[in-house]
Amino acid sequence: MTADSSFQSFLAREVREGSRYHTAPRVIEGPQAHKVRVDGRDVIMLSSNNYLGLTTHPRVIKATKDAIDRYGVGLGCGRSIASMRIQLDLEERLAKFKHTEATLAFATGYDTNLGTVWALMDRGTTLFLDEYNHASVFDGAGLSGARVRVYPHRDMRKLESFLKTPDRNKRRFIITPSIFPLEGDIAELPEIVELAERYGASVYVDDAHAAGILGDHGRGSVDHFGLHGRVAVQVGTLSKALASVGGYVAGSSDLREYLFWKARPFAISTGHLAPPSVAAVIASLDVLEEDDSLLKRLWKNADYFRGGLNDLGFDTGLSETPIIPVVVKDAAKGARFSKTLLDQGILVRSFGPPTVPENTARLRTIVSATHSRAELDYALETFAKVGRSLEVIH
Ligand SMILES: Cc1ncc(COP(=O)(O)O)c(C=O)c1O
Repeated sequence: MTADSSFQSFLAREVREGSRYHTAPRVIEGPQAHKVRVDGRDVIMLSSNNYLGLTTHPRVIKATKDAIDRYGVGLGCGRSIASMRIQLDLEERLAKFKHTEATLAFATGYDTNLGTVWALMDRGTTLFLDEYNHASVFDGAGLSGARVRVYPHRDMRKLESFLKTPDRNKRRFIITPSIFPLEGDIAELPEIVELAERYGASVYVDDAHAAGILGDHGRGSVDHFGLHGRVAVQVGTLSKALASVGGYVAGSSDLREYLFWKARPFAISTGHLAPPSVAAVIASLDVLEEDDSLLKRLWKNADYFRGGLNDLGFDTGLSETPIIPVVVKDAAKGARFSKTLLDQGILVRSFGPPTVPENTARLRTIVSATHSRAELDYALETFAKVGRSLEVIH
């Protein structure tokens, strides 16, 4: 066997193995909205992080088109050579929005965590990580060489016992998502901050799912819990509620300057936010700051849908946000549930092991501000029908 044919059979084996876990991603033929066009039909989208429906907001679209006229579409150089005015405008705007000294915007949320954790931590650092941190945090931690202590999901007693253990490392960080992406619950950020202050650690919060949806006008979890000035690093994405693509770090001006030169996915790449993506975020912030009616509608829709699912007898786990898992336990049943829902006009992705623990396979539903009551009612009726036929509920 030649080296290349052995490589090709490795790929074929891996793809075959992977297909046991991966559902075929759908193709959306029009805009990302509360309804999407799949296979020539309009279906209700219950699997999108477009929490506020801003991807199709007329103001966001107009601002994006205007930015193309003014700045063009792409980038030709990395930011160590030159930043575009609109990129700096976004970072200043985000800093004001977050009530922090500064922010730095990255090309993706993944890059933001990867680059930030990698750059800030080293062998002399101990990281205390909730087991349900995003892969980007674990990947950054691995690259940094930091000592990693993983505590069970939201187990504050375990976290405290880790923090109490003598440690020769001076730099100690607790990293947690604020809203957990597959559970839809919220971290005990005030308790985490108190533990950090008591035992000499700093806090890093990943607001990927909280940016634009928690706190006053969507300022995030630190604002929601009134913890301004007590969280060293706040990360968020721009690809979910803020209707675009990218991520940001918010904190001190020194943090920004340090990451500008040291966060490798930022510092040594030309892949930064391009003008149309930047303009979409700025316009989304305009909408959010002027009016929080979308935010209110989002939480109302989430409570309505979760309440309806619970009344039908579904297990929605720990959900307290617009991320509402429907736990079906068995992964094959989850896949069947998802497929039947699509046949009935509802797009929801199912998750099984290894993404979630054994026997906790789930459909992850995500509600948006722009779902109508009639759409949510239709989804509840359909969940009831399919849930009974698959004996998830009785
Ligand atoms: C908790 C968390 N952090 C970070 C990210 C990465 O963000 P992005 O998708 O913008 O790369 C995600 C993405 O889903 C996430 O759920």
